[in-house]
Amino acid sequence: MAKVRGSLLATCLLLGPLLSAVLALEPVTTAIAIATASVLTGYLSYPRFYCGRLVECCEENALNSTAFQLDLQKKLFGQHVARDVIYRALTGFMNNENPKKPLALSLHGWTGIGKNHVSKIIAENVHEKGMNSKYVHLFVSTMHFPHTNKIPQYKDQIQSWIRGNVTNCPRSVFIFDEMDKLHQGLIDTIKPFLDYYEQIDGVSYRKAIFIFLSNAGGDVINRVVLGSGKKREDLELQDLESVLSVELFNNKDSGFWHSSLIDKNLIDFYVPFLPLEFRHVKQCVMAELRHRGLPEDEQLALRVAQEMTYFPKDSRIFSDKGCKTVTTKLDLHL
Ligand SMILES: *[C@@H]1O[C@H](CO)[C@@H](O)[C@H](O)[C@H]1NC(C)=O
Ligand SMILES: *[C@@H]1O[C@H](CO)[C@@H](O)[C@H](O)[C@H]1NC(C)=O
Repeated sequence: MAKVRGSLLATCLLLGPLLSAVLALEPVTTAIAIATASVLTGYLSYPRFYCGRLVECCEENALNSTAFQLDLQKKLFGQHVARDVIYRALTGFMNNENPKKPLALSLHGWTGIGKNHVSKIIAENVHEKGMNSKYVHLFVSTMHFPHTNKIPQYKDQIQSWIRGNVTNCPRSVFIFDEMDKLHQGLIDTIKPFLDYYEQIDGVSYRKAIFIFLSNAGGDVINRVVLGSGKKREDLELQDLESVLSVELFNNKDSGFWHSSLIDKNLIDFYVPFLPLEFRHVKQCVMAELRHRGLPEDEQLALRVAQEMTYFPKDSRIFSDKGCKTVTTKLDLHL
């Protein structure tokens, strides 16, 4: 009761002029005005109440690691290495109240095997609105930075966007897609933000999350998967991570060629995505059926998976396009 009176008092002070105008009118209007005003102050003194319903707020809360793990298990297929690394990296980072640098993940592998998908899952677990959140920023090289003659301009832009957005929300997420198509050197402009600085010009970047997506390294990963004596399921991060970073640094078309991000160890994890097998493609079909609210149909999944093309030519183990064209192929069958 005391609290209610307190907030009413505050409301009266705030809305004093308005209320006295209303008081001059009639008692019923007055009662409604007071009720409305107190509901409003109620809202405003409980951020939980309006954040998410009325407006999106920048949340720095620790991640719900159970929900995140469930999401990864349910929505990402055939990527045990990526799943484990990403789970550990993100939960560790989000639960750390005082990280020494922002989190930087670099995801690698052929097209259609889950890189974009997993960035979506990360975004949704950090900000409820996921890719639609105003705190999640997606940059696609060929769309946002297409022209070679505008590189100096792009550099300024990237820096000012990151600075502006992190100032608004320390827990901002930046996703750079098509890293392998980014002009050489452009990525180095974000180096200062990824480094171990407490702050730069009054802004701390340590809670931000940077995700780089790239097809580069896909061939190396495939070679390791095919060539190592281990079963696919037994492959671990150590089997792939170092070959991957060496390849990226030395490959002119990787977007990271001679990049100081690699040189200075500013990328926290190189996350390999393995080529998908027939059974994973089937899982993608089943997931798509569930997503569309249709009954799960083994036979249908089998037929769609059989229509995909597989490599290497002789043994035909891995899907060329991962799960990328599954949805359109499925359309033809429905
Ligand atoms: C975390 O997620 C799990 C699984 O979705 C859910 O049951 C639980 O209530 C969530 N915990 C919190 C604190 O939101
Ligand atoms: C945040 O980033 C977006 C690009 O995603 C940009 O358009 C916007 O201007 C940035 N905001 C600030 C305050 O810099």
